[in-house]
Amino acid sequence: MLNIDKIREDFPILRREVNGNKLIYLDNTATSQKPMQVIDAISEYYKNTNANIHRGVHTLSQEASEMYDSGRENIAEFIKCDPSELIFTRNATESLNLVAYAWGMNHLKRDDEIIITKMEHHSNMVPWHLIAKKTGAKIKAIDFGDDFSVSIESFQKLLNKKTKTVAIGHVSNVLGTINDVKKICRLAKENGSLTVVDGAQSAPHIPVNVEKMDCDFFAFSAHKMLGPTGIGGLFGKSEVLENLDPFFGGGGMIKDVWIADSTYTKPPEKFEAGTPDISGTVGFSAAIDYLRKVGMDNIEEYEIEMNKLVIDKISQLKNVNLYGPENPEKRGAIFSFDIKDMNPHDVAMLFDQEGIAVRSGQHCANALMRELGIGGTVRASPYFYNTKEEVKKFLEVLEDISLNTC
Ligand code: ALA
Repeated sequence: MLNIDKIREDFPILRREVNGNKLIYLDNTATSQKPMQVIDAISEYYKNTNANIHRGVHTLSQEASEMYDSGRENIAEFIKCDPSELIFTRNATESLNLVAYAWGMNHLKRDDEIIITKMEHHSNMVPWHLIAKKTGAKIKAIDFGDDFSVSIESFQKLLNKKTKTVAIGHVSNVLGTINDVKKICRLAKENGSLTVVDGAQSAPHIPVNVEKMDCDFFAFSAHKMLGPTGIGGLFGKSEVLENLDPFFGGGGMIKDVWIADSTYTKPPEKFEAGTPDISGTVGFSAAIDYLRKVGMDNIEEYEIEMNKLVIDKISQLKNVNLYGPENPEKRGAIFSFDIKDMNPHDVAMLFDQEGIAVRSGQHCANALMRELGIGGTVRASPYFYNTKEEVKKFLEVLEDISLNTC
């Protein structure tokens, strides 16, 4: 059981006001807020340790290297992989681009097929479009059913010997659907296809175990899980990483260099050219410590309770349409909805006047919006530091806005 009031003391931003009201921050799918433990870890690093890593014998450099390396160990343990399988990137988007380029450019050829889903975020669509244009590979997309979850039947119909890559979102950033990635990875693997999971919206909200998931790659971002912006992770299975050429070249990733050639070090450094985001790693690791203390099982359980609250209420509002699974256990706490005859941006502005932060628009999922036949939605996404009272206040304001449209 979470002590939300106690948890909120760690998040100074949650005490501020917006438009004369207490802030109710419900835009966690876009980015989460940061506890003092993360802010302090970054600030202490710059105050006491700042130095470049793996490049100096002096004490500060040794200490900074130790913080960076132990951060990697900590974050790797959180998603259950070996530290050598965790590459630091800028965010999940960069992680997915890295896979698409480093793997795709070397393995895909004309008429090979890449399977994605119709609910992907642009970050797990556009990199594949770019690679498909260069290699001549084709993109196929899995349908979703009436329950807004990826259809295994549709997937099985698409899967064939030409399928070289299956790239799928774990949790939809619009619909909230938790997809059965374990099953999809198993079927893809039996078919000999590479599996790539976009975990940007799952790693912050549910326990993740990449070993059990048995995917080849898993991408995630620190900023959606209490960490700073500008740092993300890419898990890659060791046997896949060993055989992958580096994508970025520069300092830190080489074994030796001559005028006209170079050799490369082992993963993960092989994929981390240049000075990395050291303070970001320190902050990310502090965020992981915080999440571990709160408990991912507790977060998941609390979000299911919030799901019930929101789904029950919205089902009673006749002008409001919620897009996503009705089963509170099959979804994350991401609520995309529209209100009859109202523009989503106008609705979001009305919420903002009440101090409630929600996102509106297409949520980097234009193709999904087209599938749904809509121009956009309003999206409210609480996290474990939001109280049930805040969620109820959001629902009251939602009801008021929806009634005013009658
Ligand atoms: N991917 C983030 C969102 O869905 C930015 O809002």
